[in-house]
Amino acid sequence: YSSASEYDTVVIGAGPGGYVAAIKAAQLGQKVSYFALPYIYYFLALTACIESRETLGGTCLNVGCIPSKSLLHNSHLYHEATTEFKNRGIEFSGISLNLDKMLSEKTKSVGALTKGIEFLFKKNKVDWIKGKGSFVNNNELSVALNDGGSSTIKAKNIIIATGSIPTQIPGFDIDQTHIVDSTGALSLQKVPKRLVVVGAGVIGLELGSVWSRLGSEVTAIEFMPEIGAGMDSEISKNFQRLMTKQGMKFKMSTKVLSCKRVDDKVVLELESVKTGAVETIESDVVLVSIGRRPFTDGLGLEKVGVEVDNKGRVIQTQAFQTNVPNIRVIGDVTTGPMLAHKAEDEGVAAAEFISNGYGHVNYNVIPSVIYTHPEVAWVGKNEKELKEAGVKYNVGTFPFTANSRAKTVNDADGMVKFLADSETDRILGVHIIGSNAGEMIAEAALAMEYGGSAEDIGRTCHAHPTLSEAMKEAAMATYSKAIHF
Ligand code: FAD
Ligand code: NAI
Repeated sequence: YSSASEYDTVVIGAGPGGYVAAIKAAQLGQKVSYFALPYIYYFLALTACIESRETLGGTCLNVGCIPSKSLLHNSHLYHEATTEFKNRGIEFSGISLNLDKMLSEKTKSVGALTKGIEFLFKKNKVDWIKGKGSFVNNNELSVALNDGGSSTIKAKNIIIATGSIPTQIPGFDIDQTHIVDSTGALSLQKVPKRLVVVGAGVIGLELGSVWSRLGSEVTAIEFMPEIGAGMDSEISKNFQRLMTKQGMKFKMSTKVLSCKRVDDKVVLELESVKTGAVETIESDVVLVSIGRRPFTDGLGLEKVGVEVDNKGRVIQTQAFQTNVPNIRVIGDVTTGPMLAHKAEDEGVAAAEFISNGYGHVNYNVIPSVIYTHPEVAWVGKNEKELKEAGVKYNVGTFPFTANSRAKTVNDADGMVKFLADSETDRILGVHIIGSNAGEMIAEAALAMEYGGSAEDIGRTCHAHPTLSEAMKEAAMATYSKAIHF
């Protein structure tokens, strides 16, 4: 197949938002095929994706979801082997950590998946233009090619999918060895004796637990009084208790005033938000994980007048359009939760809007998962949000200690919590802590997408013995009573 000089759709950025948008655009016929010679098809690619990274997949595949989940899984197995197996009648000696091997397994899974996207681009006839794109005008992009030189690309439709990067704290010098962001924390070459995590949100909790399981003394410093960056309060308290039981320490309502490397150590100055008391602590490595910011550096938005809000997010009007109608925006660089599946769904919908004029993302039903052990997952509203909105609701909970499968496998920390409208029983939110919460939340998301009630789930037959029975029982507890608790 050959490339067009003018594309129907050009996507900037090949993260989960951008690569999915490009594939969907190509699948929807934003490409043409024609006969040139008898029996030989020539395909003219009419969709392109500009990506400057050497591999496709963006933050998620290269330095986000995928490498973190590889380390979370393998560090969990190591932790189980060293602390839990003997309680299950499995005894062996001489267990040791081969960190190099664990890191290379992570690299292997990243490599396989990023190559997979390259294959999907070829299969769907998406041109990958390797370089950094910037706007010339609303139909033209200039690409500084990775191999040198530049190229100008014309496009009828442009989708901005340039993602996000870690937020920095002024004065903190991220050197990726002693003071690191998430990217550095995914590749520490030895297990630090002490790790301080600044920000007990999703990254701090996931990567904090990786290194804690591998032997670090982990202390999380959190500005807010609760961990988990906005999860349901009851779940957050339970979760913090479980993480503490596993050995993580928390300094809540605490501000980091300064963070300086002194020889081979890092010295932090902390201030209590409540009392103003100041203290100094030392660590070997500090992970700064206080959130991420939209990335539009060097994109030349000012050349086309695309507007951003006060947090630097590209503003959408409707159908993912920016204020310049043929330029759309999806994923972390615009409003909404910074999650891979949200970016992917927007990618599909934006391509559909271009081709068909319609597309669908339900922002009320985007699940969140923290992949610790146990996992935490939720979808929809939490109690605080419902109270603030003046919505009357019923609560149904069910602990995993009363679930036969969780008890059988001795992995019974956590609970399921349903919130349903007190008049209509419509499910408003579901919150789970449990070893398989990330998979279980899909049932709640599907029910909510269909406008389901707690009773719909309570009356659906769930296999026994499974963890999913806790969903059914918590749902039952919302409109009636649970059987096993
Ligand atoms: P990105 O994935 O950030 O991709 C943007 C791409 O655009 C990048 O590859 C960048 O190189 C490229 N780019 C930028 N500007 C240009 C330009 N001018 N020209 C060419 N290319 C450009 N989310 C989850 O849902 N589940 C998880 O488990 C999860 N774990 C995470 C763990 C970590 C440690 C981190 C950091 C993030 C995690 N996330 C997770 C968040 C997830 O990675 C993001 O929400 C997701 O990657 C956003 O996708 P995106 O396509 O919007 O942007
Ligand atoms: P986050 O928003 O989840 O958490 C940041 C935490 O830092 C908050 O609790 C906040 O109160 C705290 N904080 C902010 N400033 C602080 C300061 N100066 N001192 C102390 N604490 C401070 O952000 P995080 O963990 O960096 O992750 C970024 C994004 O990446 C998340 O929004 C999430 O969407 C995405 N992500 C998703 C994952 C998943 O889905 N499993 C995994 C990792 C990241």
